Amino acid sequence: MFFPRPIAQEKDDAIDPLILPVMHSHLLGDRRRAEAFQSAIARTVRPGDVVVDVGSGTGILALFACQAGAARVYAIERQRSLVPVIERLARANGYADRLVVRTGEACDVELPERADVLVSELIGQFGVDEGAVHILADAAARFLRPGGRLVPATLDVFVTPVESSAVRDAAEPWTAGVLGLDLSAARPWFASALHAGLVSREELLGQPRTMLSVTLGASPVPPRTWIAEAEVDLERDGTLNALAGWFSLGMAPGLVFSTAPGEPATHWYQALLPLAEPLTVRSGDRLRFTIAAMLDPAAPVWSWRGHVERGGRSCGGFEHSTLEAVAVPPSSATPDPTWRIEAAREITTAIDGRTTIAALADHLAAKFAGRYPSRERALSEVAAILEALA
Ligand SMILES: C[S@@+](CC[C@H](N)C(=O)[O-])C[C@H]1O[C@@H](n2cnc3c(N)ncnc32)[C@H](O)[C@@H]1O
Repeated sequence: MFFPRPIAQEKDDAIDPLILPVMHSHLLGDRRRAEAFQSAIARTVRPGDVVVDVGSGTGILALFACQAGAARVYAIERQRSLVPVIERLARANGYADRLVVRTGEACDVELPERADVLVSELIGQFGVDEGAVHILADAAARFLRPGGRLVPATLDVFVTPVESSAVRDAAEPWTAGVLGLDLSAARPWFASALHAGLVSREELLGQPRTMLSVTLGASPVPPRTWIAEAEVDLERDGTLNALAGWFSLGMAPGLVFSTAPGEPATHWYQALLPLAEPLTVRSGDRLRFTIAAMLDPAAPVWSWRGHVERGGRSCGGFEHSTLEAVAVPPSSATPDPTWRIEAAREITTAIDGRTTIAALADHLAAKFAGRYPSRERALSEVAAILEALA
């Protein structure tokens, strides 16, 4: 089954409230997810604890904390339209006297007391793509008492090359055309998005590689840009048409939740980075690949490239980026190359691991007034320069 939506990339602005009931139906309908969180919260929260739920959504994790005996639960949610939903559900379940809702970005919220436990589910298909690492580093430092506990506590992200039936099916219109029209010219565009779909174990072409392992809530906060390089020896003949990614969460001591291929399906399925041109591969080939992610909430950028080696020689490769899907006004599609050099110099001076892509774009737009006709153009310039630097 293919789930043809790009990986959620929530922005600082509110999501359209009309989409929220659909989105939360997917989340709440995922029984594996609910059981894992309820069980981890029951093992972690002790009667009388103060709990903070960061990114509360409908409040489900806050309600699990109440079930586990929490004395008070602070539910922090940036979507204002969810506040009455959380409050209604707290009342209906008899927990209204223990649940306090705070609305706003977690980093702007202040709490009157420190919590014993921080619960959250800010996890996208690729694990890192909903901002958990950065949001929780700040939240744990400000909301948790020393020695406080997190659910989940760790995040590991894995990637491996696959022959994906979900990607093959989704690529069909771009490959075979539609009603006599050849759509193949837009295949790179199709392959410029992060997709999600079910990957079976049989579709793996080699062993998974760990791309990232983090302790959530820990300091120092890793940079928002990460680049992971790996090589995989292919274990069977096939057609390489995607890199598949998934995650595992350390929920509580002895309790791990994994979205790996072969595990029972969840609403996350697996993340898929497609190839516009699938590669025919053989057992014994070696794939070397790089995934770069710039996890700026205002303008996330993902790039993936690689090549297959056979007998020590390259026999095909791929290079894709979500920038391919970023619309650039035609009037400014080809900036003067000298601008780019000046802009790159500005950006390399400003990068400090904390400045966001959005802030870098604002800096460029202010420094070179008039060069960038829109903020989007400045953002894509920054992203292109960072990618080139990477
Ligand atoms: C994947 S949903 C999970 C909702 C709920 N905890 C659950 O498990 O069903 C993530 C929620 O976190 C909220 N969120 C994301 N980033 C946030 C932030 N920085 N501050 C506050 N809320 C945030 C989103 O609006 C969304 O409702």
